[in-house]
Amino acid sequence: MAVMDIVHYGDAILRKKCKPVKQFNGIERLLDDMFDTMYEADGIGLAANQVGLNLHLFIIDISHTEEVEEPFIFINGEIVGSEGECDYDEGCLSIPGVTLNVTRPESIDFKYQSQNGEWSRKTFSGLAARAIQHEIDHLNGVFIVDRIQEIDKMFIQSELKDIEAQSKEESKTRQTLTRYNF
Ligand code: NI
Repeated sequence: MAVMDIVHYGDAILRKKCKPVKQFNGIERLLDDMFDTMYEADGIGLAANQVGLNLHLFIIDISHTEEVEEPFIFINGEIVGSEGECDYDEGCLSIPGVTLNVTRPESIDFKYQSQNGEWSRKTFSGLAARAIQHEIDHLNGVFIVDRIQEIDKMFIQSELKDIEAQSKEESKTRQTLTRYNF
């Protein structure tokens, strides 16, 4: 088990469009560590660039809601359709202490690969759809703060500045993630 450092708002890797995963060998170790990291931080979703890796994958665990039983692993995922619209208060491990009401489609048609590289396509709604869209945003370099009105951003400006300053400090000391060999 290894808990990784979570990268915070202000770090350049969180503004990058992540690269597709091409090699699935040895990916379990990274996924295990990402789960450890997410649980340690009390999160329900975590994208690879949030732990400093430019890879198109994320994990979600909403099994506490009884909507689903198993944690999800989504690799090279793509939203291929969506329906409806709803509001929900979202938090983000990369923007600690900030919760924002975000409008998104209610259900999505989503295709993705498993850790074995197998493709699936499924419709998700409720919290699962919400969490998937949040994480896909991360892999495209988009934050919840980009999804709200400019005027609402004013209210969190000082929090964002603090997180950004902290993030700059962290990036100076962050170690290169060499333990994942792909
Ligand atoms: Ni987030």
